[in-house]
Amino acid sequence: MSLITPEVEALLYLFAAVAFILALKGLSSPKSARRGNIIGAVGALVGVITVFVAEELKNIGWILLVIGIGTIISIPASRMVKMTQMPQLVALFNGVGGGAAGIVALLELFAADTFGFLLAVAFTIFVGSVSFSGSVITFLKLQEIMTTRPVLFKGQQYVMGLLTIAAVTGAVVVIMDSNFLVASLLMAVGLVMGVLLVLPVGGADVPIVISLLNALTGLAVAASGLVLDNTLLLVAGTLVGASGTILTRAMASAMGRSVNNIIFGAFKGGSTAGSTEVSDRPVKSGSAEDVAILLGYAQRVIVVPGYGLAVAQAQHTMYELAKALEEKGIEVVFGIHPVAGRMPGHMNVLLAEANVPYEVLQEMDEVNPQFKTADVCLVVGANDVVNPAAKTTPGSPIYGMPILNAGDAQQVVFLKRSMRPGFAGIENELLYEPNTTLLFGDAKDTLTKVLGAVKAL
Ligand code: TAP
Repeated sequence: MSLITPEVEALLYLFAAVAFILALKGLSSPKSARRGNIIGAVGALVGVITVFVAEELKNIGWILLVIGIGTIISIPASRMVKMTQMPQLVALFNGVGGGAAGIVALLELFAADTFGFLLAVAFTIFVGSVSFSGSVITFLKLQEIMTTRPVLFKGQQYVMGLLTIAAVTGAVVVIMDSNFLVASLLMAVGLVMGVLLVLPVGGADVPIVISLLNALTGLAVAASGLVLDNTLLLVAGTLVGASGTILTRAMASAMGRSVNNIIFGAFKGGSTAGSTEVSDRPVKSGSAEDVAILLGYAQRVIVVPGYGLAVAQAQHTMYELAKALEEKGIEVVFGIHPVAGRMPGHMNVLLAEANVPYEVLQEMDEVNPQFKTADVCLVVGANDVVNPAAKTTPGSPIYGMPILNAGDAQQVVFLKRSMRPGFAGIENELLYEPNTTLLFGDAKDTLTKVLGAVKAL
């Protein structure tokens, strides 16, 4: 027997749904992101508890056991994961969500009686399984367990075409006949299609695909809300579907690409994983003291942080350096590219961790006109986001991506370990410009040395 009335159940679900919406609102700014996260977690907890008190659950022991195992695995996994590995973790969690929705729908097939119900079941089985296997491949790519380069084989489009026909046919049979075997085959087809959909996607585009799969999981969960007659799943799934879609489009436009091009580009030979060859053309390299002099005599410095800052975990040292320069009366701002790093908001989160005030973080459109008046642009572990090839080289994998105009500054300093390219795998002409100085080394070491030298000026 249910412990609460349907009215109380509906109110609790409403509370959880409002919490999810407030969570999304909070996550839209680094200042309120932490609070947003907590509000979302409370909403999820209320949702789970409501299921326990509102439904007449069988096998409670098993359910608790599975929740216990999930908790034991996920808490240390989330704690141990490095910030730079967050996209992989999100991919895995996302895949598990899609897979769970698919399995629930498969098991609910026997209870399905109306056309709408059966349609929702077929949709959830298929989309949930695409999302699960696609997410596993994105995880393997990002963790570099498998190659990050596009994987293509001859006739891949035709195989995809045949699988699409099989999926549509399977879904029609499931809807007309509630056939469990066909529903299981539909799931298998979804699993294969998820793999084939992500395999051709090149390295730098994988995070966008995660966001797209996230949107798919949202849709699968929303449909499973219809299957289970659960309003909260419907609302939460729709929110995830909508926000995932918006995020996917925002990331794609920040990279100057269409979502279509990202997913199907490799089929047409437009992959994003460029060459990783390193050229041996001469560059001007300097010492930490040289860089300290450039910075120490500047009036205006723009710092462009990138993925390497996160790898080196040098955000605290970076902020120390910014403060040391400000103490000398030098103005320092941070130019934040929307896709710097490996996940949306990566640089904001990283710098917030070091307590860099939000006021000195400037978005691309705001900071771009200021490079012309900057004495030094200090590029710390960034590469693609300042690569002029995005403007000058049609055919380059990043062509069309808006970039930070670092090259407009009087002097450009790159802190990086080698001449290796960034994630897109292409050379950066800015490294060879006469007003560019390279300081080689891990960003934490080099920043520490520059900081010491600035203080000694
Ligand atoms: P990248 O172009 O990947 O460049 C990072 C640079 O950091 C590399 O040149 C690397 O050179 C250097 N580096 C790595 N570890 C370092 C360390 N410990 N110390 C110092 N330098 C280090 O990064 P970016 O400029 O931030 O661009 C991001 C890329 O990811 C773009 O191509 C973007 O499209 C892609 N992407 C991002 C997102 C999101 S949402 N952020 C989503 C999809 C794709 P060395 O190896 O020589 O040190």
